[in-house]
Amino acid sequence: MALKQASLPGHHDLPNGFTDGLLDVVYFILRSCLWIVLRPRTKPIDSEMVLITGSGGALGRLSALEFSNHGAELVLWDINGETNEETAKLVRA
Ligand SMILES: NC(=O)c1ccc[n+]([C@@H]2O[C@H](COP(=O)([O-])OP(=O)(O)OC[C@H]3O[C@@H](n4cnc5c(N)ncnc54)[C@H](O)[C@@H]3O)[C@@H](O)[C@H]2O)c1
Repeated sequence: MALKQASLPGHHDLPNGFTDGLLDVVYFILRSCLWIVLRPRTKPIDSEMVLITGSGGALGRLSALEFSNHGAELVLWDINGETNEETAKLVRA
């Protein structure tokens, strides 16, 4: 026996594609609103003084170059003067 779905007078079924699209738009708007409120705050570091310890080593050198690219003033600190000077040269280049 075939079942027929009852519908209210004046009620029109919306096509699935339309409701999916509508849900996408609502999701996009909600996500954008949340992003505006919860987005990570960044602080400009240009002209800030940054002390980097171990700046003659791998991570210290990377950090020095990254902070330098963002315009920070650096204090490079390492017990190994030779590798520290190499970092300083790279930063000044
Ligand atoms: N490289 C990685 O992937 C990684 C991952 C996790 C943790 N770490 C840790 O991060 C730290 C740095 O890593 P890295 O790969 O740059 O090591 P690295 O050995 O390349 O550099 C360490 C630097 O610190 C200097 N140093 C040591 N004692 C010092 C002191 N008292 N004052 C000033 N400078 C000093 C050393 O001369 C050296 O140049 C280490 O403790 C390491 O264990 C590194």
